[in-house]
Amino acid sequence: MNLLSVKGLSVRYGPIIAVRHLDLDVDVGEIVCLVGPNGAGKSSSTLAIAGALLPSAGTIHLDGKDIARQPAERLAMAGVSLVPEGRRIFGRMTVQDNLIAACLPGRRPFDDPEIFSLFPILRERMGQFAGLLSGGEQQQLAIARAMLRKPRLMIVDEPSLGLSPRFVDIVFGALRQLRNQGVSLLVVEQSARRALGLADRIYLMRSGEVVMTGRSGSLAQDPEFEAAYFGKEAAR
Ligand SMILES: Nc1ncnc2c1ncn2[C@@H]1O[C@H](COP(=O)(O)OP(=O)(O)OP(=O)(O)O)[C@@H](O)[C@H]1O
Ligand SMILES: [Mg+2]
Repeated sequence: MNLLSVKGLSVRYGPIIAVRHLDLDVDVGEIVCLVGPNGAGKSSSTLAIAGALLPSAGTIHLDGKDIARQPAERLAMAGVSLVPEGRRIFGRMTVQDNLIAACLPGRRPFDDPEIFSLFPILRERMGQFAGLLSGGEQQQLAIARAMLRKPRLMIVDEPSLGLSPRFVDIVFGALRQLRNQGVSLLVVEQSARRALGLADRIYLMRSGEVVMTGRSGSLAQDPEFEAAYFGKEAAR
C-alpha cells in the first residue's frame, strides 16, 4: 500500500529547474533510495516532499491525503520527518538539549529508551556539546531527533556522507531497525552500491529527472543500471 505518493513534482530556484515531473512512491514498510550524482535534484526533492521547500508543480499524498504546500511543522505532526543533508544539529547545544528541542507534544519524550537502545552512544554523550561529536555520532543524533516525532515516513538525506565504514554500518543498521519497527524510509544515497544494499527499491535521478527505477534485486543485475551508475563509480 502506498504511504507516500508523489506525482509530477517540480522544484525551481528562479530560472533553475532542479526537479522535473518527479513521480515517486514509498509503500508502507519500504526503504526507498534516491540515488544520483551531485546536482541531480535529490535534496530538492526531499525538501519539497518534507514541506521545507515550495514545489512549483505536482501533488504529494500521504495515505491518500494531499500534503503538498503544507509547512514542515504540520507535516511533522502528520508523520513526515526529515533528517536534512548536513544533519543540521545545534552544535553549541548539548546532545540532551538537541533532543529536547526536537520533541513534539504527544510524541516521544527526549529520553525515550527506544532512542538509546538504537543509539547507545547518545546516552553517554548527553551532556556534551553536539558540535564536538564525531560525524557518525552527529548523524545518529540527527536521526534520533527525527525519531522523537514518531514518524511514519522518515526522509534521510545522505546519512552516509563523510562517515567511516564503521559508522555507515551503524547508521544503516539503525535505518533497517526503524523499518522493522514500522517506519517507512526515503533515503538519499550517492553511492549506488550502498543504496543497493539498503533499499527495497531505487530511483536513479540525473539532471532533475528520474532516469531509472526498479527493485534493488533486479537493478543489481541490470547492465543498464550498472552503466548508468557503476561505470562511473567503479572509477572512484
Ligand atoms: N538554493 C538554491 N538556489 C539555486 N539553485 C539551487 C539551490 N539549491 C540547489 N540548487 C540547484 O538545483 C539543482 C539540484 O540540486 P540538489 O541540491 O537538489 O541536488 P542533489 O542531487 O541533492 O546534489 P548533491 O548530491 O550535491 O547533494 C542543482 O543544479 C543545484 O545547483
Ligand atoms: Mg543533496
